[in-house]
Amino acid sequence: MCGIVSYVGSMEAGPFLVETLENLAYRGYDSAGIAVVNSSGELVIEKAPGKLEELEKLLANNMPTGTMGVGHTRWATHGVPTYINAHPHMDCSGNIVVIQNGIIENYLPLKEKLIAEGHQFVSQTDTEVLAHLVEKHYQGDLKEAVKKALVEVQGSFALVFMHKDERYLVAARMNAPLIIGLGYGENYIASDIPALLSKTNKFYILNNGDIVKVAEDIIEVDTFVDGPPISASNRHISIVDWTVEETSKKGYQYYMLKEITEQPRVVHNTTKGRLSPKGDVKLDLAVTDEHLRRAKRIHLVACGTAYHACIYGKYILEEMLGLPVAADIASEFRYRKPVVHPRDLVVLVSQSGETADTLASLDTARELGATSLAITNVQGSSIARHSDSVLYTYAGPEIAVASTKAFIAQLTVLLLLGLYLSDIRGVSSKIDRKQLIKGLNRLPSDIDSLLARQEEFKGLADQILDDEHCYFLGRNLDEPIAREGALKLKEISYIHAEAYAAGELKHGTIALVEDGTPVVAIMTQESVIEKTLSNVQEVRARQARVFGLVCEGTQGIEEHCTSTIYLPRSHRMVMPIMATVPLQLLAYYAALGRGCDVDQPRNLAKSVTVE
Ligand code: G6P
Repeated sequence: MCGIVSYVGSMEAGPFLVETLENLAYRGYDSAGIAVVNSSGELVIEKAPGKLEELEKLLANNMPTGTMGVGHTRWATHGVPTYINAHPHMDCSGNIVVIQNGIIENYLPLKEKLIAEGHQFVSQTDTEVLAHLVEKHYQGDLKEAVKKALVEVQGSFALVFMHKDERYLVAARMNAPLIIGLGYGENYIASDIPALLSKTNKFYILNNGDIVKVAEDIIEVDTFVDGPPISASNRHISIVDWTVEETSKKGYQYYMLKEITEQPRVVHNTTKGRLSPKGDVKLDLAVTDEHLRRAKRIHLVACGTAYHACIYGKYILEEMLGLPVAADIASEFRYRKPVVHPRDLVVLVSQSGETADTLASLDTARELGATSLAITNVQGSSIARHSDSVLYTYAGPEIAVASTKAFIAQLTVLLLLGLYLSDIRGVSSKIDRKQLIKGLNRLPSDIDSLLARQEEFKGLADQILDDEHCYFLGRNLDEPIAREGALKLKEISYIHAEAYAAGELKHGTIALVEDGTPVVAIMTQESVIEKTLSNVQEVRARQARVFGLVCEGTQGIEEHCTSTIYLPRSHRMVMPIMATVPLQLLAYYAALGRGCDVDQPRNLAKSVTVE
């Protein structure tokens, strides 16, 4: 998704904007641009389609000077990625610029009206409408003009305006993330916290409807929707404990590999203080145990990788609690008529805490009166702030588009939640609790032992480099892991990969299996291993190459598989977490071997803040 950065202060804005756009590149983009008010008070705009290097080449001997500016990476929605469609966009007078992340839903009627009033448009974007609309309302006060303009605008957006004659920036948000970084004699605006960590760890996290005047020494918060403004002095300043070091590659070629190798620490950090060595679970939830005891059903809602964590959550929570648990894709949940009772618990799972569909599902849950619980990685994110309670996954900043460590942390938190709920509901005898705790406590070292076997997983990846298709099979708790394995492989290596509940393949998809087709079979669940092996036989009979993942010590597998990967044996609810690691590395080395840009796969965005 688009990335926003802006600066007002005393340093040169241009180099800072470009450097910060690099930090935002992980969100996904296809063009970039900056605008700076230069020392002569003129607006200078530079932009370029393609990667940031294109913009950097343009600026190499031509960096605009000036201490206030805005920068943007664009992920195309309205109009192809060209110079003209890249942000910043300007009004007719050439005095006002705007950068935006989101979608202006009513841009067409607004555009027609503005054209009829004489405004001249140059791009196909929805964003340009904003520049002309503010121009129309401008009477010497940029903030007032933006406020008036936004009354006419429908959609989800985060934006920043700058006027060449006014020494401040105007930021506003509605359903898209935007934060203000606080400095001394300087202030910053950005789409997300990691982008600004080299400058500050103090932030105002904007709410929907906020419009903020940001000067070097003053921040004024107002609202463009009905209701009283909350002044900046009453705003809570979020102090984050992420460090800039955590956002660096630390010598790795790609963030993805760095993040995969961080997983032992992520599991440790996520369980620390929540799981005692004796197995007591403490979660410090803001909702009362009474509320949680009363819940008759649980709904787990998310998008992408986080949705796969929800399917895993469904399996384990149903078994641990004996309650009906649903796993839903957020973009479906929000638009169907979900049956949610006021006594239900709705769990929103989101790495970023900003995904538009997941956030909207939270609104749906709230409207239906349910108790909401966020499982998220970003402190102060929208989903965290608007849920009744939050469980953080302490994965640290995740930069690679393909989610890895956040997924492992989500699975870990869901296990902790299951343990906690089963304790307070008095049903902990449903599972082998002692073994599970042991497995969780040992998980960081088990993952470490898998990370030490990277050559083995690279060897598997080398065997599929030239394949066009790959299938992933799993039953029971291995089914969501098959889905996640397939998603990882397809999103970064562009090998077409699909996952199936192992018993389902023969109902159609097996028609695609032919001599040499690679099939990854995840078989960590011993109660169903014989069943999955039958499905493996079915694909072997069609000459598929089968890579099997099993617990160490499992007998009689090798004769059915082309390659067998043995995973450290642990509790069956922990095994899927273990199985995820080789699949992440399989995808990583396949993408690397095929020469793909591992961290920024084509067309994808890290934080999806539009529908
Ligand atoms: C994007 C990312 C995925 C992520 C999904 C949901 O598609 O590329 O990695 O799983 O959004 O994001 P969230 O931040 O809500 O977990």
